[in-house]
Amino acid sequence: MPAIVLVGAQWGDEGKGKATDLLGERIDYCARFNGGNNAGHTIVVGGEKYAVHLLPSGILTPTVTPVIGNGVVIDLAVLFSEIDMLGQRGIDTGRLVVSANAHVIASYHRTIDKVTERFLGKAKIGTTGRGIGPAYADKMSRVGVRVQDLFDEKILRQKVEGALEQKNHTLVKIYNRRAIDPNAVVTELLEYVDRLRPMVQDTGRLLNAALDNGKTVLLEAGQATLLDVDHGTYPFVTSSNATAGGACTGSGIGPTRIDRVMAVVKAYTTRVGSGPFPTELENPDGEKLRAVGAEFGVTTGRPRRCGWYDAVVARYAARVNGVTDFVLTKLDVLSEFDTIPVCVGYRLPDGSVIEEMPMTQTDFHHATPVYEEFPGWREDISKAREFDDLPKNARRYVEALQEMSGAPFSVIGVGPARDQTLQLRSLT
Ligand code: GDP
Ligand code: IMO
Ligand code: MG
Repeated sequence: MPAIVLVGAQWGDEGKGKATDLLGERIDYCARFNGGNNAGHTIVVGGEKYAVHLLPSGILTPTVTPVIGNGVVIDLAVLFSEIDMLGQRGIDTGRLVVSANAHVIASYHRTIDKVTERFLGKAKIGTTGRGIGPAYADKMSRVGVRVQDLFDEKILRQKVEGALEQKNHTLVKIYNRRAIDPNAVVTELLEYVDRLRPMVQDTGRLLNAALDNGKTVLLEAGQATLLDVDHGTYPFVTSSNATAGGACTGSGIGPTRIDRVMAVVKAYTTRVGSGPFPTELENPDGEKLRAVGAEFGVTTGRPRRCGWYDAVVARYAARVNGVTDFVLTKLDVLSEFDTIPVCVGYRLPDGSVIEEMPMTQTDFHHATPVYEEFPGWREDISKAREFDDLPKNARRYVEALQEMSGAPFSVIGVGPARDQTLQLRSLT
């Protein structure tokens, strides 16, 4: 019966992969609903580390049916290399189902992603270069190629030719690049058809039938609230709806079927790529967060920008997503600090202090954090398994964060492994 949505509350990399994996056998289906292989979700099981980019994190639980929903953009080369990589490590991916309506990332999307970023120079977004933005742009412009188009060669050819007509003019005349041959693109895409065909289904119908039959469906986001194209720090965002609303459009499940919205939030903040980040620390504390928290991108290997917890961002995420539960991750990383500041509001250039996200991006760019400081605990908490195992100052920090963040903290992470988890409330 229940559908559960799982989103990121900040700028991504909060630990969504681990949170999904924790639900394990309590879910029957795990569907990605947005983004593509710009995501990088890490799961640590039995000392083994897995990184998935396109496949839903539920793929590691043998009883779960993993689904790639209609809202995802799929790079087929990545899809099959991820399947092969997991296969070589003994993980069975044979249950994977792919939406016939999902859009395909073709080589020209990757090319355009890279050249437009280069063209933007200092104003670049800092994308992952995976062709995500151009693929979603084609979807909205109605010149996209969908998974189902691969099953009709004539249609596929027409669509690829249509998509490239304008792009080739732009590539040659503006970006000084060579035109892309539609035949080569079609040939490349058709190489995947035979492997793809048995996985493809009407996933909206499949997931609704599962709910009708009393199954539990988890809808897993890529990216996060502040990277959402509508609710994030536009234009420094990704090109999809990574918030809970996107879970409906990206899966074909109606909002009335969703019982719970879980948001994963890190005990501090990180961001990859360009864009405003009020609590960013460009100092030794920031470097320490990066080193202790191993804050380097799973997808691009880029060092993540690091800063203190921002309660304004968490409250905003609670509101935008209708969060019922927070999963607080990486509390253990803060054990290394004597004092831990938390951003409780922003001071704007006119001297005023606000406690909500400002209406304009200009104000957000110029906002400076107002901090409340908490004493650290300075002891290893990675072996704690109950809330009461935590030192007093760690409990006070968590309670203060919960108070400020607008929804209960149901799970707390004290390390990357499955069992390094404190469960405060049941998740299903
Ligand atoms: P995602 O994109 O939201 O799935 O997150 P990433 O996998 O990109 O980044 C989160 C990183 O933090 C991964 O390396 C996880 O293994 C790790 N992680 C998750 N939860 C915890 C935690 O509670 N403590 C620590 N130390 N690491 C964690
Ligand atoms: P997960 O799911 C962190 C960022 C990029 C860039 C912006 C746009 O692992 O949390 P894109 O390639 O999507 O057009 O890039 O979004 N970005 C992420 N940052 N985690 C992610 O995914 C991200 N996916 C995209 O760094 O700033
Ligand atoms: Mg990630």
